Parts: sequence; C-alpha cells; structure tokens
Amino acid sequence: MVLNAFSMNCVSHIQQGMWTRADTRQVEFGSLDPWIELAKVAEKGCFDTIFLADVIGLYDNYKGNADTSFREAMQVPVNDPMLLIPAMAAVTEHLGFAFTSSILQAHPFTFARQLSTLDHLTDGRVAWNIVTSYLPNAGSNLGFDGLPGHEERYARADEYLEIIYKLLEGSWADDAVVNDRQRRMYVNPDRVRPINHRGPHYDVAGPHLSAPSLQRTPVLFQAGMSETGREFAAQHAECVFVVGSSRSGPAIAADLHQRALSYGRSDSDLMLIGGVAPIVGGTEAEALEKRDEYEKDLSIEAGLAHISGNIGADLGDIDPAEPLENFRTEGVQGFVKNLLDSAPPGTRTMGDLVRSNLAGAWLVGSAEQVADELQRRFESGLDGFNLTYTVTPGTFVDFVEGVVPILQERGLVQTEYSTGSLRRKLFGSDKLPASHPAAKFRF
Ligand SMILES: Cc1cc2nc3c(=O)[nH]c(=O)nc-3n(C[C@H](O)[C@H](O)[C@H](O)COP(=O)(O)O)c2cc1C
Repeated sequence: MVLNAFSMNCVSHIQQGMWTRADTRQVEFGSLDPWIELAKVAEKGCFDTIFLADVIGLYDNYKGNADTSFREAMQVPVNDPMLLIPAMAAVTEHLGFAFTSSILQAHPFTFARQLSTLDHLTDGRVAWNIVTSYLPNAGSNLGFDGLPGHEERYARADEYLEIIYKLLEGSWADDAVVNDRQRRMYVNPDRVRPINHRGPHYDVAGPHLSAPSLQRTPVLFQAGMSETGREFAAQHAECVFVVGSSRSGPAIAADLHQRALSYGRSDSDLMLIGGVAPIVGGTEAEALEKRDEYEKDLSIEAGLAHISGNIGADLGDIDPAEPLENFRTEGVQGFVKNLLDSAPPGTRTMGDLVRSNLAGAWLVGSAEQVADELQRRFESGLDGFNLTYTVTPGTFVDFVEGVVPILQERGLVQTEYSTGSLRRKLFGSDKLPASHPAAKFRF
C-alpha cells in the first residue's frame, strides 16, 4: 500500500480554518523546521512520499475578489514547493518527494533542468505531479489572457511532456559522461545531441544542460479526471489520483487501466491513489471526540472560497439548497462530476458539498478501524492513499504511531524501505519502462 503525506507550502491547504489551532505548525510553513520534522515523521512511518500540491494563482472569484482567501490564508501566501525538497532529502535516506508544477508555469527547457537537478541531489527520489491549472488568475500571471481552455491546456501538456522526454531521455546517452581525468574528457561530445524540437507552442534546440540522473524522468503523478484528463493519465502517468467515493473508485480504476492497456501499457505500469483524511483516536470514542473538536475550527467561508475556485463559479451568494449540477463549467469538469458521484444519496446540494468537502474525506476511528477501512479500499482496487492532514504534523504522527504498525502487521505496508530510486521502490526499475511513451525518444 502506497502512502503519501499530502501537504502544500502554504498556511491553509484543504481543511480550511484549522491553521488557527495551537496544535498545528501550519503558520510556520515559511521556515525549514516544520518540513524537516514532517520528513522525519514520514520516513519513520515508511511512507513512500511527501506529496506537495501547488497553485500559481489566487482563488479570487468568491464574492468577486480574493479577500476571503487572504484573510483565511486559503492557499495564499503560497511558496514554491520544489525548493523544500533538498532540505528534506538531506535529513532522510529513502523517502520520496512528489511536487506539483503546472505545464503553464515554467518553460519546459528550464523545468527539465530543475527536474534533473532535483533528481541528482536526491539520488532519484523525485516525482513530478503534472497539472494543467484551473485558476484564471494563474493564466493571467503567466502571460495568457486568463486561463487557456480545458482542451488547449491538455494539448499544451502533451507537447510539454514531449519536450521533457526529449531532453531527459533522448539528449544524453547513458555513456555520455566519461569523467576520465587521464584523457581530460568529462563528457564525450559524440554522445550528446540537440533535440531540435519545433511545435505549436515551443521551439527548443537543446541539448539538455544536465547530465542524466538516476531516474532520468522523475516518477510521473497526475490527477486529471475529465475524459481528456484520463486519456492523458493513461498515456503518461505512473501514479494517478482517483477522486471519487469507494463506490465510484473501482469503476474509475478499471477505466484508467483499460485506457492504459489501449496505449500498450500494462496494469502494473499504473498505480491508483485515493485520498483520505484520517482522524485516529486510541478508541473510537476518542476519535469522535477529536472530530467534534476539529469541526468547530473549520471555516465554512474559506471552504466556499476554495470550492468556488475549484469549480470556477462564485458561491458567494448561492442558495445552499441548490443542486450542484447547476455549477458545471469549463474549469474543472471532472472535479465537479466526481464530487457529485461521490455524494451519498440525498446529499447533492451545495450545502452538503461544502460540509463534506471541508472535512476533506475524514476517516474517523480507532487505529484498528482506520486500518480496516483502508484495507477494504485497497482490496477494492486502489494501490494507496494520499493522507490529508487536519493538524500537522499531528495527524501524520497519529497515523504513523497507530495505523502504520497495524497495516505492517497485516503485510500491507512495508516494514523497511527497499534500496534504490523512488521508481525502483514503486515499480522495480530506475527508468521508465519500454511501454511508456517517453521510451521512443531515447538516445
Ligand atoms: C489529489 C489531487 C491533487 C491535486 N493537486 C493539484 C495541485 O496541486 N495543483 C493544481 O493546480 N491542481 C491539482 N489538482 C487538480 C488536477 O490537476 C486537475 O486539474 C483536476 O483533477 C481536474 O482535472 P480534469 O480537468 O481533467 O478533470 C489535484 C487533484 C487531485 C485529485
């Protein structure tokens, strides 16, 4: 069972309002210490990665502005996730680090070099969460006239990935670095080549400026749930986040595997990761008590601002009784669809959605109960979980101390790390397999 600690380099990520509590380190996000503590907790729990979300714009449509987002620290201020990784890598040996970067935000040539640098510095422990962005302000920040359309963003993503593959997989041969002091040859120039990419969005000559790292292309994470998003995931992704209930989850998993097969990839090339926010108590009663206490600190206002940004519709003056179907937009079609699909019968209004979304898929119980439920979901087709925190690092500490030993006892979670790169730990080899589209660009 893959376990990722899900976080973001900001004050308030998903469970809005919780930053006001004394037992969370969220407001310290701008210094290294809480991240170093988190990395150590995650490695103690044999987690596979710390997974860092990111946005590149404001949630500014709720009541027509970003005031609520600023007041509630709702994903703003938000710092660059990538820059935390070397510090966390220095205090850990095996833990992986997945970070989010939008295909809109950095030129692919620049980004390819950042990926290689991080993969070198961490001995191959890096994963990239590929996103296409959904906040219009992100588009405006990056020289687009608002957010490019949904299909256009995925078309850009296809070209972006092609350039990344050409640079990371195809520009330097495995034996390009000779490092021979006697012959005074560090790189054999015959074993490095330009990529000369010309496409609708980018022209990139190359060659890549970094030498090949252990994984070459870092492990690829992705979370698209729309039709186009699933097609993209089926071709490129190695770990896919499945948004959906335990009811819709298995169907989504089967669909993604089927699509991957049609691209010549095998079932074992793709892992499906669900999301869960565990609230673990010594007993069920203790866990429920904790939940009741947490619930008092949730901010409905910030939750509404968050969802408004996610679905691209201002919920500033909506009727909480209004059905969610009325809010389908260009923005994040799959997100809304899956929220709808995951709502229990009779709870399909916006009011219901806000409450359940704020609680971030809370799974409340004793360590034994939480382990039971994760095992059930695992056995119904998921390969692992992103764990969302209520308080940090407290939520992760509770999980590592209570739930992990039970899952280890059941043989579901590793008791020690295997050696090698993140991809080797997850999939058994350092490099992408021959069935992956990147392979055709190899030197
Ligand atoms: C677990 C998870 C994490 C995500 N993290 C981010 C993120 O950090 N930044 C971002 O812009 N989008 C993030 N997304 C949104 C997805 O990248 C994607 O835009 C969304 O699922 C809609 O995709 P679709 O349009 O194909 O349905 C995340 C989604 C999920 C389920």
